Parts: sequence; C-alpha cells; structure tokens
Amino acid sequence: MNSVHLLDEGHQVEWDDPAPAKDRLATQHRQTQEVQRDAGPVSSYTEWDPLEEVIVGIVDGATFPAWHFSMEPVLPAGQHETFRRNAGRPFPAELIRAARAELEEFTRILEAEGVTVRRPEPIPQHRPYSTGEWASTGMYAAMPRDALLVVGDEIIECPMAWRSRHHETLAYRPLLKEYFHGGAKWSSGPKPELRDELYDHEWTDPGDGEPARLVVTEFEPTFDAADFIRCGRDIIAQRSNVTNAFGIEWLRRHLGDRYRVHVLEFDDAHPMHIDATLMPLAPGKLLVHPGRVRRLPDLFRGWDVLRAPEPVIPDTHPLYLTSKWINMNVLMLDEQRVVVERQDEPMITALKNWGFTPVPCSFRHFNSFGGSFHCATLDVRRRGGLDSYLG
Ligand code: ALA
Repeated sequence: MNSVHLLDEGHQVEWDDPAPAKDRLATQHRQTQEVQRDAGPVSSYTEWDPLEEVIVGIVDGATFPAWHFSMEPVLPAGQHETFRRNAGRPFPAELIRAARAELEEFTRILEAEGVTVRRPEPIPQHRPYSTGEWASTGMYAAMPRDALLVVGDEIIECPMAWRSRHHETLAYRPLLKEYFHGGAKWSSGPKPELRDELYDHEWTDPGDGEPARLVVTEFEPTFDAADFIRCGRDIIAQRSNVTNAFGIEWLRRHLGDRYRVHVLEFDDAHPMHIDATLMPLAPGKLLVHPGRVRRLPDLFRGWDVLRAPEPVIPDTHPLYLTSKWINMNVLMLDEQRVVVERQDEPMITALKNWGFTPVPCSFRHFNSFGGSFHCATLDVRRRGGLDSYLG
C-alpha cells in the first residue's frame, strides 16, 4: 500500500494510494485524447489547459443586494447585519476604487502572459425588479465564475438561487451574443421562479463541524457554476446553499454521455462554491482546503494532494461574502503558471515548493467582494481537447 504524496510535511498521512498516478494519467491522456477540432471562440475543458481568452469581472456599481434570508447560511456571521442595513446601497466607494485598480493590474498581468481579456458591461444593480411574487435589487458583475459555466464549446447561463442574482448574466449578454455568432453553443438552465417554496424557511445554522443543512429545497433546479470543477470528461459538483440535486441532475442530462458529473460532499457546514475547497491545478495535482477535505475522494486516487496553507488575511480586512480560505481560489494559466495574491507569502512559497510558477497580483480588496482569481474569471478558451484524467 503506497501512501498518497502529501507535499507539505508534518501532516499525518491518512489516505491510501493504490495507483501509480503519473504513469496512469499519462497513459489515459494518450488513450483518450480526441483530435481537437478547430476550436471556436468558446472551448475549455479543464481548469489548467493553456489559457487563451478569459472574462474578468467588474466591480462598477457593486451594490449590497436586497436582503433575503437564504443568504444567511453563507455570509460570514458578522456580515448579516451589514447586509441588512445596507441593502440596495453601493459597496464602499474606496473599496470599489481599490478593487477596480486590482482588476486593472490583473488584466495587465494576464495580457502580458499572452491571454486575451474580455469584460462584461455594467448594468444598474440598484434598480428594483419584480416577478410579481417577489422583488429584489441586484449585486454585481464581479464574479463571472458564479453565473456562467463553460463546458467544452458550450457556455451555459446558470439558474442562480439568489433573487439578487436573477438577472446577473445580462451583463455578459454582449459577449454571449458575440461568442454565439462565432460558433459557440449558448444555452441556459430552466429560468427559476425563485418562489418561497425554493427556500427552507425553517433553516437553522447547524454550526461549524456539523453536517450542512441546505437552505435551498428541491422545488426547481438551481445551480451556480462555481459549484462545479472541470477535469475533462469528469465534472466534480457539490450540493450547496445555492446548488440543489435537481440542478445538478439537470446539468448532467443536459451535458449527456460525453461527461460524467460526480457529486462530492465535504466537511463544510456552509457550502457555497467548490473552488475554495477543491482546486485541481494540473493533472495529478489537487489543492485542498485542509479542514473541509479530510479524506481524498476516491476519484482522485493517485493524485498529489496539496494542502492549502493557512490564509494570512488580517481580521481587520473586510470579507463580506466568504471565509479567508478564498486564498486558495487561484487561477491556472497553464499547468505551470498560477496567479496568486501578492501578499499571500505562504501560498506563494507553497506553490513554488510544489513546482509551480506563481504569478503574484494584488487582489485583497477584490477579495472583499467574495472571490479571488478563479471566481473573478471565466475561462472562455483554453488550448486542449476533451480528455480523461480521473478514475
Ligand atoms: N464559500 C467559500 C468560502 O467562504 C467560498 O470559503
């Protein structure tokens, strides 16, 4: 019985690895690689193939959304009151300015690394809208990773569970139309009604360390794209406070037999978005949240497990929507280069020790809005075809 490669020292080895990882992956790669057709404007199968074009979000007009209790399970406890008090008002102007400057730095870095960067169009977020059943205001177009899912040559608008995100994909419509005209497949999940029946009105906080109790019911399919991670033919999903089993099943049938959608569960009492829990960085290399992933999922047998170092974001820095583990929300430019927060020295050192080439970029103010480099982007095109890497 071999032990899995734990690349940071001092942690107990608790996983078994019966498979010779690198050889097996290389063989699979050769066996299953499809000849890549002439790639259209949208073509991305993994989180690590060489990045050619990416959408980077914007913070212009970012607004505290209308309050709804379904946000409570995932907002940091100290922020509930801030959201209630500021509903419909802009995020602090100085924070928007600082985050915008970081997004510009990020864009310059990506372009210098040879990546084409596209941006959404700002839409008014403070303007109330209503379906007749309920009313809300919007939030932002900062996190394309949440609202849009790219699988191969298809770009899917997600049926998001938050009422404040119901119209979020509109900011990307000019790009979606352009990609469609260029040959991409453009689709959308069933438009959700977001009626009261979608939410568990009896929801109470299970508390850290307890199994999650999800605030969304199975009334209709809902999902955020950020609850899915793409590893070629295998797509890893988690049920969360915005993604239900109905939504995952809808996506599974929609994608059909070319893909295998696997649902994993983690030690996370407040799940929303898988990309601060599990991040495949390259074939055979998996970055994990050390608390939420205590046992390597069988699917990743033989992969090297990289345990994310403790985040160093100070307590005084506002994080409105996430935990500090947003530090592991990195973006791969290819199997080697990885964009990482400039002040996150432990992560930079760990990535170097693991053989990657960190590309530092300031992003701490952007982090306040609920994401880092992976959340802030949507990789529209990566060089590479449909392949198998798991199982
Ligand atoms: N929901 C994830 C976290 O807060 C992103 O860590």
